[in-house]
Amino acid sequence: MELAKVDWNNEWKHQMTQWRTTSGKSCKEFWADPKSAKIYLKEGVGKHQNRINNTLKDLPLEPHMRVIDIGSGPGILAVPMAKQVRSVTTVEPSPGMNRVMQELIQEKNIQNIRCIEKPWEDVEITPELNHRYDLVIASMSLGMTDIREAVEKMVQVSRKYVYIYWHAGIPGWEAMPKAVWPRLFDQEYHGGPKSDILFQVLYQMGIYPNIEVTNEHFHETFTSQSEALEFYCRRFERIQDDHRPVLEEYLSTHLVKGNGGYVHGFDHTTMKFWWKTGEESHALN
Ligand SMILES: C[S@@+](CC[C@H](N)C(=O)[O-])C[C@H]1O[C@@H](n2cnc3c(N)ncnc32)[C@H](O)[C@@H]1O
Repeated sequence: MELAKVDWNNEWKHQMTQWRTTSGKSCKEFWADPKSAKIYLKEGVGKHQNRINNTLKDLPLEPHMRVIDIGSGPGILAVPMAKQVRSVTTVEPSPGMNRVMQELIQEKNIQNIRCIEKPWEDVEITPELNHRYDLVIASMSLGMTDIREAVEKMVQVSRKYVYIYWHAGIPGWEAMPKAVWPRLFDQEYHGGPKSDILFQVLYQMGIYPNIEVTNEHFHETFTSQSEALEFYCRRFERIQDDHRPVLEEYLSTHLVKGNGGYVHGFDHTTMKFWWKTGEESHALN
């Protein structure tokens, strides 16, 4: 195979389709459920906080900036960013995540966030985004099938920076489906495209990003083993009632009972891709 001839965007699409098919739900469909969104936020304010703090420290945020946060989830970055910049626009398709984000915005009395409840692919630059953004961020949110088109749009709306954070290697939470899928479905589990493919897509687009790798460990914490079971059953729609015992058996050996409840711990390697965009090449002001 001649690597230069590989269409990496097609490879991304292919792996996205395999992910969707083997897991039963796409990224945005999974997070549509407010219960899942709340658990995500709980992680965020608890054990998961390191990644968020590091990301916030890392971003070149300044008070005059307009930021767009693509796949903002429950506002875990958008809300603290809003305190540091002029305004934040979020693009988040999942109703559950949006609902939890609205609660957080109200709780923190934030006035400078505008929320667009849509997938990034469906956002029309004109008229929905009426200016460009000093910083475009997509953190752990690349649920787009056509990643090339998605990145092109990010560049188009960017005035200064694009920051993308994505998974590298096999994230810890894929260990469970990888372990149980062959038993349940006589099939391997595919966890979606990772940073290697993203890098190749960017390279083929003529984007040579700065890259940094971070290793994290985080937890999902549940009040009971059955809450954990329900969470993973929602996440993997293919799991039916008669599959539950296999998942239950897996969780009984992987959840650790601690003070805060039942903890499922994961190793996670992320890659940050960031680059500067030129002002002059864009249509918006
Ligand atoms: C794992 S959460 C990440 C949340 C947050 N950005 C963070 O860093 O913690 C992924 C989010 O990406 C969203 N997402 C998935 N596909 C998307 C798309 N096509 N356009 C915009 N957001 C998307 C999901 O709905 C979900 O809320």
